[in-house]
Amino acid sequence: MSTLAINGGTPVRTKPFLGWPVFGREEEDALLRALRSGVWGSIDGTFVKELEVEFAKLQAARHGIACVNGTMALSVALKALGIGTGDEVIVPPYTFIATASAALMIGAVPVFVDVELDTLLIDPAQIDAAVSPRTKAIIPVHHGGSPVDMDGVMAAARRHGLKVVEDAAQAHGAAWRGTPVGAIGDVGTFSFQSSKPVNAGEGGMMVTNDDELDELLWSYRNVGRRRGGEWYEHVRLGWNLRMTEFQAAVILEQMKRMPSQQAHRTEAAAYLSGRLAEIPGCVPLRVPEGVTAHSWYTYHWRWLGAEDGGLPKKVFADALRAEGVPVFAGYVPLNRNQAVIDEIARLGGPAPAAMPNAERAEADEIMMFSLNILMGTHADIDDVVEAVAKVAAARA
Ligand SMILES: Cc1ncc(COP(=O)(O)O)c(C=O)c1O
Repeated sequence: MSTLAINGGTPVRTKPFLGWPVFGREEEDALLRALRSGVWGSIDGTFVKELEVEFAKLQAARHGIACVNGTMALSVALKALGIGTGDEVIVPPYTFIATASAALMIGAVPVFVDVELDTLLIDPAQIDAAVSPRTKAIIPVHHGGSPVDMDGVMAAARRHGLKVVEDAAQAHGAAWRGTPVGAIGDVGTFSFQSSKPVNAGEGGMMVTNDDELDELLWSYRNVGRRRGGEWYEHVRLGWNLRMTEFQAAVILEQMKRMPSQQAHRTEAAAYLSGRLAEIPGCVPLRVPEGVTAHSWYTYHWRWLGAEDGGLPKKVFADALRAEGVPVFAGYVPLNRNQAVIDEIARLGGPAPAAMPNAERAEADEIMMFSLNILMGTHADIDDVVEAVAKVAAARA
């Protein structure tokens, strides 16, 4: 067996993987058009308005409301649904901190419902047990770009009269049973932060099919103004969360690249899954049967080989990085994040329960590749697989 690079052997790969984002003349021209228009804000500009129409179309929603980022999009969505101090919202523990902090920052308390070990998506079967008289909403997270079982989530929401805010920060272009995610629930939120499948460095979007919610989302994003009202007329308190014309100009161009990039990643993910599955101890995540489009924002897989004498997860990840393959160990479950725990306590909410699946995923199993790996060629993926196989063969 060849010596691991972490022990002084030769790395499988020394060439860097593709960078992200991909951009060119189109983005340059769009930025110049925005600049030369002399109208850089969305109030009078045309780029943000066009983006709102185009993005809503992409996700098959009646309305799109652009904003500064995916975190504030979540807070605004909850606020527009009347959720605030003391209310509880159900969230998965295995997600970016914003899913929970967006609730906490407006005084609402996240109550965690564990994810399934083989999908890392919220387990709808566990929602009922987490509902209390204070529960107002569920925030399913389309983690990694894989739609959650929205049949199960919507059924639970109906049973308990709860609102649904889809955290689709990572799921541009994803669909559940043929319906794009975002407006399956009451509101859906997206991020255009640097690493996302469609991005402008930063940015966010809310989508909804509800006309009244559209007005409220617009207003909260726009300092509490009302559409058609006077400039200094503020009918409620809100934030200035407006996106700039420059961001929208770039996002509109990135959206044109998205369909072929998403198709490329989908094919690459299938190839990677097939190859990984041949390596003992490596198990690709299960894609739920109702997923008809996956954005493949990130690629997660389970390392189970430690149970059979292979390297423990964190050593495995270090060894793989040394072979020249950038791999991430995934999120720290939010039920174990001290800042989240402290804020829930300060708000008088119930202390987070143990989340066995999320904790096991983090401690023992989950490996994650970012989207640039899936944007490469089969030869790039072959290098990844060769490195994984080399590390998987090592004994602890
Ligand atoms: C699941 C999830 N929710 C929310 C966000 C927050 O989005 P942003 O970084 O644009 O605030 C992100 C990403 O960054 C995310 O991955």
